[in-house]
Amino acid sequence: MAAGSARKRGAGTGRSRKPAAKPAEPVIHKGLAGVTVDTTSVSKVMPETNSLTYRGYAVQDLAAKCRFEEVAYLILHGELPNRRQYRAFVADERGRRELTRPHLEVIRQFPKSAHPMDTLRTAVSYLGTTETAWGGEPRERDLDRAMNLLAKIPTMIAADYRFRKGQTRRRPRGDLSFSENFFHMCFGKVPPAKVIRAFDTSLILYAEHSFNASTFTARVITSSRSDIYSAVTGAIGSLKGPLHGGANEAVMHNLLEIAAPERAEAWLRERFAAKDLVMGFGHRVYKQGDSRVPTMRAALEDLTAWSGDSRWVEISDVLQGIMIGEKGIHPNLDFPAGPAYYLMGFDIDMYTPIFVMSRITGWAAHILEQNADNSLIRPLSAYGGASQREVKPISRR
Ligand code: COA
Repeated sequence: MAAGSARKRGAGTGRSRKPAAKPAEPVIHKGLAGVTVDTTSVSKVMPETNSLTYRGYAVQDLAAKCRFEEVAYLILHGELPNRRQYRAFVADERGRRELTRPHLEVIRQFPKSAHPMDTLRTAVSYLGTTETAWGGEPRERDLDRAMNLLAKIPTMIAADYRFRKGQTRRRPRGDLSFSENFFHMCFGKVPPAKVIRAFDTSLILYAEHSFNASTFTARVITSSRSDIYSAVTGAIGSLKGPLHGGANEAVMHNLLEIAAPERAEAWLRERFAAKDLVMGFGHRVYKQGDSRVPTMRAALEDLTAWSGDSRWVEISDVLQGIMIGEKGIHPNLDFPAGPAYYLMGFDIDMYTPIFVMSRITGWAAHILEQNADNSLIRPLSAYGGASQREVKPISRR
């Protein structure tokens, strides 16, 4: 406004002969790297100390002392539950696990060749057709929807897994924990406690990680006052990519391709020569190591001892030694998580859907937070296309 009126004042006075200053070139923040977009109270990533807290609690401490359900409560409600709150939360989650018959029919119709992240994205989106929801509705309504998603997503993944294999589904069981029930629904049995513990650990570590790509996607969708189902559906699409959640699947494909520790170095040098990314390494925020890796690595070692299959940690050690030693690039959470899920018996294309089972808590907390203090997320772009030109009628083109 001030600049506009200044221009008017100068017009025709002979005092504005100097050429107009060129507008400053906008600074491009490719990939939004290093840009702080908003404030969150859900989690804090501290790359300088390689640490991560959820609502103020160190993630390693949570993994050592809590079950996944306690951490889910913490992320959604902001505080760790007391016993009464925990019992009510667990009973609520267990009571919501079953899917409706039409929902199961939708899942049954998916092409058997579809990737489970694509079927999950559609199965979650289906829930959004069962009611009309909008962003900015009372927080309690979105919290209720978040509980539904938390309880039902494992049932969607497991039903799809069994239908794909031509098997009948296993109904969810209300007497089992979140993790136990998932194994039961997939495999019809519950493994020993140490396997459940390792799985629970992976869910705790995967639950939340500030403004990562999928969470930011959820916040962008929420910021237009769209609904939680749309935001979570979009977030699943973002998580699927191998630069984000899909890396845990890619890691295991690589380990299987390498197959033996003595082949690991040659394989890695071929990747270097081809200038390929090595999946499961590197992080946009952590440059000196991912805070979650030591805890997940310990869980992988427990699974290795339990299964007697040490190949994957041996190959991992060769890759990790060279990547850190020669490139200074550290493993991220997906690196130990991939082989951990393999030792638990999951098909590789189930790994990223498992990530969703957990990350739904972080996404929901961010959706609630965005709704509570919303501003439409709409950045600017610099234009790099053709100069403005005249449209010629088709007869003259
Ligand atoms: N393998 C090989 N080289 C890698 C690498 C990897 N996994 N991760 C980073 N680098 C290289 C980059 O190519 C870049 O090299 P250059 O300087 O010659 O261009 C250099 O290391 C610095 O990269 P950086 O800017 O730190 O990476 P980023 O922030 O743009 O990317 C990721 C972060 C996660 C996208 C990237 O590390 C990656 O693609 N990792 C593999 C996928 C993965 O595991 N994703 C899960 C993340 S939790």
